[in-house]
Formats: sequence, C-alpha cells, structure tokens
Amino acid sequence: MSENIRVVIYGLGAIGALIAKNIIEKPWIKFISAIDIDPNKVGKDVGEVIGIGPMNVKVIHDNEADEFLREARPDVVIHTVTTYLDKAFPQLEKCIRAKANVVSTAETLAYPWYRFPDLAEKLDKMAKDNEVTILGTGVNPGFIFDTLPAFLTSVCVKVNRIHVIRSIDASKRRYPFQKKYGLSLSPEEFKEKMAKGEITAHVGYAESIMLISSMLGLKMDKVIEKQEPIIAEKPMKTQYFDIKPGQVCGIKGLGVGYIGDKEFIRLELIAAVGREDYDEVIIDGEPKMTWRSVYGTSGDIATAAMVINMIPKVLKAPKGLITMKDILIPSHIASL
Ligand SMILES: NC(=O)c1ccc[n+]([C@@H]2O[C@H](COP(=O)([O-])OP(=O)(O)OC[C@H]3O[C@@H](n4cnc5c(N)ncnc54)[C@H](OP(=O)(O)O)[C@@H]3O)[C@@H](O)[C@H]2O)c1
Repeated sequence: MSENIRVVIYGLGAIGALIAKNIIEKPWIKFISAIDIDPNKVGKDVGEVIGIGPMNVKVIHDNEADEFLREARPDVVIHTVTTYLDKAFPQLEKCIRAKANVVSTAETLAYPWYRFPDLAEKLDKMAKDNEVTILGTGVNPGFIFDTLPAFLTSVCVKVNRIHVIRSIDASKRRYPFQKKYGLSLSPEEFKEKMAKGEITAHVGYAESIMLISSMLGLKMDKVIEKQEPIIAEKPMKTQYFDIKPGQVCGIKGLGVGYIGDKEFIRLELIAAVGREDYDEVIIDGEPKMTWRSVYGTSGDIATAAMVINMIPKVLKAPKGLITMKDILIPSHIASL
C-alpha cells in the first residue's frame, strides 16, 4: 500500500487515547482527528488530550460527526466508545454513511448475531450497500478467548474440548476496567449494579464461544455465562481504589459452550487485585496441546495493538459486517 491509511478515532477514552499515541508512530497511518462527547475533551487539541503536546487538530463533538466524517474521508474509523451494539449503532451508522470502514472494540460486535441479531443484519446490509467493512475486535473478545485458541487448533486433526484460562492482575488495568469490575463495592452493591447494567465486568464470553464455533464449523446447543465477585480478605490498594476487607477485589467469570450435554468450550476469567498474570489454552485433541503465556497478555496495550494491526486487514477483507473469522492469519504488522 503506497498511500498512508487515513484514520479517525471515535471515542477518545482510555483505549482510544492509547491507540492514538501508538498510531502516530506508524508511518503507514495518517491520523486525522478524534470524535468524543466529553466536554473536557471536545474542542481541545487531540495531542493535549492524549498527553503528547499539541498536534493542531481539535477533538470533534459527536453531534458534528456526520459532517466531519464526510469531509475528512477516513479510510478507517477506530471505534472505542461502548460495549453494546445498540449503543454503538448510531455512531457506526455515521461511519458507514461517510463510507468509512470500522474497527471497533465494542465487545458485542465480536459476534453481533448472538446478542443483537436484528441490528447485526441491519448493519451488514448498510455496510454492504456502502461497500465498507465493519469488524469488532480487541484482546478479549477478539484474541485470547477465541482467535488464539481457534488458531492453535490448526495443528489438530481432532478437537474434543477447548479450555482457556485468563488470569489478570486487575490493579494493572485502566480506570474504566477497574470500575466496571466493581472494585471496592460491597457484594450487595456489586450484585445490584450488575443487575442494573451499571457495571458489567467482562462482556463477551458467549461472543467468544460463538466465534470459535464459527471458525471451527461447530454448532453449540447451549451457551452459559456466569460471573461472581471475589471478596478481599485484607486491605488492598490500586492506583484508583482503596479496597477494604469484605469489599470486591475482582471477579471470577465463566462461559461454557455445550454440544449436546458435552462441555466443548470452557472460558474462565479470573481478574483480581494482585492476581498472577497468565493466559493458558488447553486443547484436548489429536495432538493434545497446552499453550501458556507466563506474562499474561497486557490487555490495554494488546487491545490497541489488535485494533491497529487489523486496519490494513480490514481494507482487504470482504465488505459487510465481518468477524475475526474473516481475517486471514491475524498477525503483527511491522510494515506494509
Ligand atoms: N474487545 C476488547 O478486548 C476490549 C478491550 C478494551 C476495551 N474494550 C471496550 O472498548 C470501549 C472503550 O473502552 P475505554 O476504556 O476507552 O472506555 P472509556 O474510557 O469510557 O472511553 C469511551 C470514550 O467515548 C466517549 N463517548 C461516549 N459516548 C460517545 C459518543 N456518542 N460519541 C463519541 N464519544 C463518546 C466517552 O466520553 P464520556 O466519558 O464523556 O462518556 C469516552 O471519552 C469499552 O466499551 C470497553 O469495554 C474492549
């Protein structure tokens, strides 16, 4: 690709800002500007918002996104606003109307037909009509619980069961992560806020199961998801929260996909303050395999990397609403 790829970031929060800082280093990307609604960011210099000094481009308000995107003509919009497709839909519509491809970190967009089948169909049609591609990805969903285990099964002639364990030290993650995992809440507050959708902990167990299934050509008969808080036994502290004994210091979550009565895919997440960072994929197949990252996969920077590395892939992918299944051999992009 000879010309630089023109990129806009939609949602300049913790992840959007991290992506912005990293794409300005990429000689194959031309970073145009960012869109947000936060009054502390809109109208300010993007470089100052992300903490790198002036860049002479201002953050645009979402209300002006239609006109801005039409004039700016980005090849790709990086969408880092929200988890749920119903909330993301108006922003994605604006990108599609401007004929921009989208790489989004919205967890439910990793396999949107599971939770939002009608919106997924609508989005697919709009994207095809406007000849653009829409992809949901990130570290998880997008990699650890789905693309990675599916990729590892490439060397198996038979797969009986896939088990993935992701263990995270929650104290090392960004503020929105620690907040949505309920750190420092009482167990009752955690339950209430989860029920009201005010916090979510991890979203995407089912999307990852459906994504693996689609990649391997399997049909799940049942998918279950569960999350419960881990309670602190001693005082704990992160950069953002002081946690007293009896308060939430993390979560234990689970997604299981069944074929008949048989558990075929098991995805386990343990994210808590002080927890060891590691990822493990265990494939019971022929041959058997255990893959382990002893460092874990640092989620925020890994999400930024996944999104950036998928930019050129999306430009070559089929038009419409796609998933990581449609991206052939995901990899780091060192140069084009
Ligand atoms: N798939 C994955 O692996 C993965 C990994 C990391 C993150 N994520 C997801 O990516 C999303 C972004 O994460 P984050 O930590 O960066 O969240 P964040 O810090 O809350 O950033 C979101 C930004 O978007 C802004 N915003 C809200 N509504 C908007 C709109 N209509 N138009 C433009 N901007 C708008 C927010 O402003 P206000 O603060 O004023 O609302 C905020 O600045 C989250 O949903 C997160 O769960 C997914």
